[in-house]
Amino acid sequence: MIEIKNLSKTFGTQMVLNDVSLKIEKGKVVVVIGPSGTGKSTLLRCINLLERPEKGRIKLGDFEADYEKISKAEIQVLRSRTSMVFQNSNLYRNKTALENIKLPLTAVKKMEDRKAEEIGLGLLEKVGMLEKKDAYPETLSGGEKQRVGIARAMGVNPDIILFDEPTSALDPELVSEVLEVIQDLAKQHTTMLIVTHEMKFARSVADEIVFMEGGKIVEQAPPEEFFGNPRTERTRRFISSNME
Ligand SMILES: Nc1ncnc2c1ncn2[C@@H]1O[C@H](COP(=O)(O)OP(=O)(O)OP(=O)(O)O)[C@@H](O)[C@H]1O
Ligand SMILES: [Mg+2]
Repeated sequence: MIEIKNLSKTFGTQMVLNDVSLKIEKGKVVVVIGPSGTGKSTLLRCINLLERPEKGRIKLGDFEADYEKISKAEIQVLRSRTSMVFQNSNLYRNKTALENIKLPLTAVKKMEDRKAEEIGLGLLEKVGMLEKKDAYPETLSGGEKQRVGIARAMGVNPDIILFDEPTSALDPELVSEVLEVIQDLAKQHTTMLIVTHEMKFARSVADEIVFMEGGKIVEQAPPEEFFGNPRTERTRRFISSNME
């Protein structure tokens, strides 16, 4: 289980996250939606400390830390137990698909090359990319790159994978192959926190939907309830303008 408590983050005078608390049970998928600029990316970035929140606590299984006085060692632990998948896969350009997955395993996890190779091949198969194992990123489509990026995120066996709009930089015809991979992970009970604008996908993959606005969680509910019977007028409007 991962639990975030009273997370706050300001940029200059702007309060981007305002006392956000969120719990994600092991094996569950929470999808965050909401208008642009409401702090969704900042929330993910604060969780694994790409941004430093001013306030808040995090619990990750048996690990617990206070962001206000987090130590370097604790930051390392947090980063090693969370993985992030960005809009653009951020693959190393001079490394093949397989090498991209192996690198964090050998360099960070200090795994033997043979073991990393075995895990890497297994993951490439899982995301349907085995036949492209020796391809360099520039020869892959956007969707293929994202699938390798997801395999890389899974490789380190994190407690949670954080996705920040994994399909929003893709051509429309490539979106579904990436969403299918994420859907598969959900079926295998991978714990995930996903920011997306894909409402149909959100509805089908999520155990829980979180609607954010102005740095706050406005509404949180299982998808049937959230989409079928939204509690606030604001949520209703957001859904109807994003559901076509
Ligand atoms: N590094 C930064 N410095 C200053 N302001 C920032 C920084 N990062 C984000 N912000 C501001 O914080 C607010 C929230 O940004 P964030 O990227 O979290 O929004 P978002 O909900 O992910 O939006 P989108 O749906 O467009 O991706 C925005 O007003 C943004 O301009
Ligand atoms: Mg964002």
